[in-house]
Formats: sequence, C-alpha cells, structure tokens
Amino acid sequence: SDSGGGTTDAAGEEVAALSDIPVGGSIGATIGGAPVLLSQPTEGDVVAFSAICTHQGCQVGVEGGAFVCPCHGSVFDAATGAVEQGPALDPLPSVAVMVDGDRVIAG
Ligand code: FES
Repeated sequence: SDSGGGTTDAAGEEVAALSDIPVGGSIGATIGGAPVLLSQPTEGDVVAFSAICTHQGCQVGVEGGAFVCPCHGSVFDAATGAVEQGPALDPLPSVAVMVDGDRVIAG
C-alpha cells in the first residue's frame, strides 16, 4: 500500500535470507539503515524488532537466545521483544517484515 500507516521508505527492501536466520534463533540486520533484530521462532515464521534499546538508545544485540543491551544489561524476549530484565521498561518495537521464499523483505 502507498497510503502510509506504518510502512517505511524501506518497504520491499531485502533484509536477509531466511536461511541465514537459525530456527529458534536470531540475527542482526538493518532496514533503511536502522539496526534491527530478526528472529525465526518457528520454521518460516520471521519477526523483527528495532535494535535500539528503549532504555537509553544503545544498540541491542543477540546473546544466548535473547536480545541483550550492552549498556545496562536489559534483556528482551527474542520472539516478542518483551522486557525480560530491566532497566528498560518498554518492549522493543516490532518492525514489519514478510517472507517470500528464502527472502525476508521489509514490509
Ligand atoms: Fe539499554 Fe540502558 S540503554 S539498558
């Protein structure tokens, strides 16, 4: 759609290959130059989140099956973005992606 409402200029951009994301695991990528985290909780099902920590804006990484912020240790669920451990109070915002064959595309 070109009517706005949550799409970005990066819509349609190839973000990663599906086969690059471990099933049950996560990788880092970028969408429109912004860091994101991609997870494949179940085979063929990809979810994406902003990698900007909701605490003070550090870049969150993948560590031990979760998303971990290096600055003050916040931990986020890799399948939902929910806070598992503070100091962050808010979840990582989800980012729209679609799977097309082996391609993960920004939505
Ligand atoms: Fe991420 Fe503080 S900026 S825990």
